[in-house]
Amino acid sequence: MNKKTVKDIDVKGKKVLVRCDFNVPQDENGNITDTRRILSSLPTIKYLLENGAKVILCSHLGRPKGEVKKEFSLAPVAKELSKELGCDVKLADDIVGESAKSLTSNMNEGEVVLLENVRFDAREEKNDPEMARELAGLAEIYVNDAFGTSHRAHASTAGVADYLPAVSGFLIEKEIDFMGNALEKPERPFVAILGGKKVSDKIGVINSLLEKVDTLMIGGAMAYTFFKAQGYEVGNSICELDKLDLANELMEKAKAKGVKLMLPIDTKLGKEFDKDTESKTVKCTEIPVGWEGYDIGEETIKLYKEELEKAKTIVWNGPLGLFEFDQFAIGTNEIAKTLADVDAITIIGGGDSAAAIEKAGLADKMTHISTGGGASLEFLEGKKLPGIECLQDK
Ligand code: 3PG
Repeated sequence: MNKKTVKDIDVKGKKVLVRCDFNVPQDENGNITDTRRILSSLPTIKYLLENGAKVILCSHLGRPKGEVKKEFSLAPVAKELSKELGCDVKLADDIVGESAKSLTSNMNEGEVVLLENVRFDAREEKNDPEMARELAGLAEIYVNDAFGTSHRAHASTAGVADYLPAVSGFLIEKEIDFMGNALEKPERPFVAILGGKKVSDKIGVINSLLEKVDTLMIGGAMAYTFFKAQGYEVGNSICELDKLDLANELMEKAKAKGVKLMLPIDTKLGKEFDKDTESKTVKCTEIPVGWEGYDIGEETIKLYKEELEKAKTIVWNGPLGLFEFDQFAIGTNEIAKTLADVDAITIIGGGDSAAAIEKAGLADKMTHISTGGGASLEFLEGKKLPGIECLQDK
């Protein structure tokens, strides 16, 4: 990565504001159900503490839309961080108000303060310069380590860098190095697997990957738009009728570029959106009226597996079926298992694909699982991420 990191700057005795992505899932009782994003932030925080910094952490949690809402408080995160760091992480009642100022004014080296949810302030998402200046006023150095939020140009992810020396943390460095290397210098064959509901969400990434990969595998509900585009019926399956031309264009582009574009050959259908619904598997070209496609079928799994076993670099973004329901999670799970076994670099985009890998208990078998959903997608698309662009160049 060509951006400075915490290692390129003297942090001893300095107040360092670190933007993390502590946007973690919680159950109805407020218990954190997946701590991966918190654990991923620890290397940077520990490095800063070991090197004599006074650490001020900030993050968003959920989408409280500029209002203080108790259910979006970072209190559970402060508790988890205290446990992981083995020290008391004090939580401010506000972001740049009296509580934040008083907790951060007389800090000792090795102390950690967490500010409240930055999205409790409506100025955050507007990238308001005044809020950025107030945040900067709490510290002497800014570190962005919130890869998952680096595609947002907000006051705490980008604006604040106008007022302080700004460098990257180790998580952002790791994400960019893994994904950047896979895209720029892939060991071939290079295979991308794209799933998810809509072609429209993935146009950018499909276009960009068609320039780089040897094989592009499609799964998830977006496959049905490709079948409809070829004139087949798709029953009640999700299908974007206004994207049929686009699907045809993408298939043409793949042909022109010599990329092997693989679509499912069979699909597991359900009668209705219910975990126990009646199901059956048919050829993708023979989907009957009244049924909806929820997963790839066994023939497709076999075909995709054979292709993946030959690959040397694999990038995966988006589940291949309705993996939240066990009977339609088979395709996603089988592909996850294949990735766990193959002798290849395996990079998993965050969001649902990361959740599916976690659910299958295979996270430690992958080369890299991104902590960013939207951010990893935008990175794979080749877009510039404002939370990274704003940092100092090496
Ligand atoms: C995420 O969970 O993808 C990030 O934390 C960004 O959240 P957002 O989509 O609400 O900006």
